[in-house]
Amino acid sequence: MSPTAHELPPFLAACRRQPGRHTPVWVMRQAGRYLPEYRALRAEHTFLEMMRTPALAAEVTLQPIRRFPLDAAILFADIMTPLDGLGLGLDFAPGPVLERPVRSAADVEALAWRPAVEAVPHVLETVRTVIHELPDEVPLIGFAGAPWTLFCYLVEGKGSKSFVTAKSFLHAQPEAAARLLDKLADLTIDYASAQVEAGARAIMLFDSWAGLLGPDDYRRFALPAVRRILEALGALGAPRIYFPNQGATLLEDVATLPVEVVGIDWRLPLSRARRILGPGMAVQGNLDPAALFAPRAALAAAIDRVIEEAGPAPGHVFNLGHGIESTTDPDQLAFLVEHVHARTAREVPA
Ligand code: CP3
Repeated sequence: MSPTAHELPPFLAACRRQPGRHTPVWVMRQAGRYLPEYRALRAEHTFLEMMRTPALAAEVTLQPIRRFPLDAAILFADIMTPLDGLGLGLDFAPGPVLERPVRSAADVEALAWRPAVEAVPHVLETVRTVIHELPDEVPLIGFAGAPWTLFCYLVEGKGSKSFVTAKSFLHAQPEAAARLLDKLADLTIDYASAQVEAGARAIMLFDSWAGLLGPDDYRRFALPAVRRILEALGALGAPRIYFPNQGATLLEDVATLPVEVVGIDWRLPLSRARRILGPGMAVQGNLDPAALFAPRAALAAAIDRVIEEAGPAPGHVFNLGHGIESTTDPDQLAFLVEHVHARTAREVPA
């Protein structure tokens, strides 16, 4: 069936819990190292160079779209990108590392962010370049890190399994911590809004380290900053997606947020997530990225299970439960996209 003028692209329809031609699919980290064409460009440039150069960042954003019939593109950038101009000595190895992490109330006060149009105009230029190349059917997703997850890297200064330094700061200096989360919320409202104004048609907040917090600390520190961002973005009209990674125990609180779509990691079946979130939110997810290493029949069965768990009601964006692994065979992703589309193809009432 060919799309008609009034029909939303499948991705936007699902975000709005409306029926579409098929369940839309995109995957976290779809622009990245599992693609040989990414590795070829990356051999010639550093990761920061690629992010700071609109022609390169646009090219990497489009690489997976050329290869697979994905239903959305995601901007090639990083959650640390908007912090690039803060003078903290940001680098990637391969995860974010900071020469001068934030460790005191004075460090927090010294942080002065500038509007995205001044600090990271290249990101907005990348958005404009990409949307020019994308078919209407394939919306561009803009994104930002959620304040708590940015806080983890800013305070720890590098990746970690447990982020002990960041969590200690939360408890040892709760006022300075709240102030930092507040500043990060302000920066993110500006940065995410600028992406939508430049042409991103949905906006996703990655809270990769939400699961490090118990419900009380999550409610006290992480949630208010996320709520403030989502409230501010509501006026823009682009669907909002929030991904609280390892957030199964936090979903009752997430259900109170003003958000269209909640990303679910692979640890929680989508049927259970939907029961907790209620009928007013769409879900995104949640195949274990490791399933892409299974033989085709087992992969197909695992994909079918995710679709069944999502249930027949509209409002499912198929995705992995976290980023695609860099050792994944791209042909397995081609199979996944094709299988999701074929398995969910339906007639849309006019
Ligand atoms: O999803 C996409 O294709 C868009 C691009 C994107 C990247 N990072 C590119 C990237 C997105 C959406 C992100 C988000 C991001 N970055 C998150 C949230 C999502 C998540 O994974 O939980 C986080 C926590 C980061 C911080 C970060 N950046 C880490 C931990 C790493 C190392 C990861 C790894 O796979 O080794 C990065 C580097 C990074 N960000 C790469 C890419 C393509 C690899 C860079 C390289 O080529 O060396």
